[in-house]
Amino acid sequence: MFATPSPDPMLAPPMEFPDFPHTNILDADQFSRKDLEVILEQTGKMEQLEQARRAFGLLEGRILASLFFESSTRTRLSFETAMNRLGGRVISTVGFQFSSISKGETLYDTMKMIEAYADIAVIRHPVEGSSRIASAAVQMPVINAGDGSGQHPTQALLDLYTMFKERGGVDGLRVAFVGDLKFGRTIHSLIKLLQHYDVEMVLISPVDLALPESYRKELRKKNKVFEETEDTKALWDCDVAYVTRIQEERFVDRSEFERLKNSYSINRAFVMASRKSTLIMHPLPRVQELSTDVDDLPNAAYFRMAHYGVLVRMALLTLCLRVPLPPLTPTL
Ligand code: NCD
Repeated sequence: MFATPSPDPMLAPPMEFPDFPHTNILDADQFSRKDLEVILEQTGKMEQLEQARRAFGLLEGRILASLFFESSTRTRLSFETAMNRLGGRVISTVGFQFSSISKGETLYDTMKMIEAYADIAVIRHPVEGSSRIASAAVQMPVINAGDGSGQHPTQALLDLYTMFKERGGVDGLRVAFVGDLKFGRTIHSLIKLLQHYDVEMVLISPVDLALPESYRKELRKKNKVFEETEDTKALWDCDVAYVTRIQEERFVDRSEFERLKNSYSINRAFVMASRKSTLIMHPLPRVQELSTDVDDLPNAAYFRMAHYGVLVRMALLTLCLRVPLPPLTPTL
């Protein structure tokens, strides 16, 4: 009889790559619940690797093209931080005025060129559907960092991760969306992701900024429970309130924006009146819809979300570039 050979302690366990079929992140629609579980799990592992200072070097030698043709602070800097924390490099262009698009170059040509410089691109652009056009031009992975009032899938993924971290899961939650549900792309993407879970949604907005009919139709088709109201008090019996600013830059008629801009203002006293100690989330930037006196309440999650955003984006960069993570238990 031969004894089963014990594993050689000098050999590290093989690195495994999860079952993740996507190379591009373009639209929240592209994910199955299984894909979301893979992304959340990869983000959790990334958090542990970061804590152990073992994430640096995973993307050494890779270059991220950071293409932001519309204003951004958080999304751009968190993608660039994510790449830096993984040991990769970043090249970037910000705004049309400093790119050849201002000379009439098409997005297609710009992308073709960038493919010669970088291994992966992240793009924010004011036109809905632009990231799909960008990705069709190239072989390298492309990540949508916001296309007009269309989608913002990576923000929605970090929103989902926040709910897992701060509420221990998503199934069973009652989630309120407050503010500009018409133009808010983060809301559009998050509503699509939440359809994979057993949640109740409460849509709180002025009638003129209601969630577009195509999204409501989808919710009805999937038999998802949702209520619509203009009254912010509806968030008092919700587990999570996702507050957003009125998206000034999307209004064609300035007077409409002026009429609606002060629709809501959520302050500390209002939040404290909630029976459920509602978790307050916000993709930021905020304007006047969320008062700064909420900030030091323990259920104000929005500054912690900035940290989760880097972790989710680190996870997505490794998944899209198909780079396996090292095992989490230390090996000899
Ligand atoms: C959001 C965006 O750009 O859509 N910001 C972000 O990415 N965190 C929300 C907004 O601009 O209101």
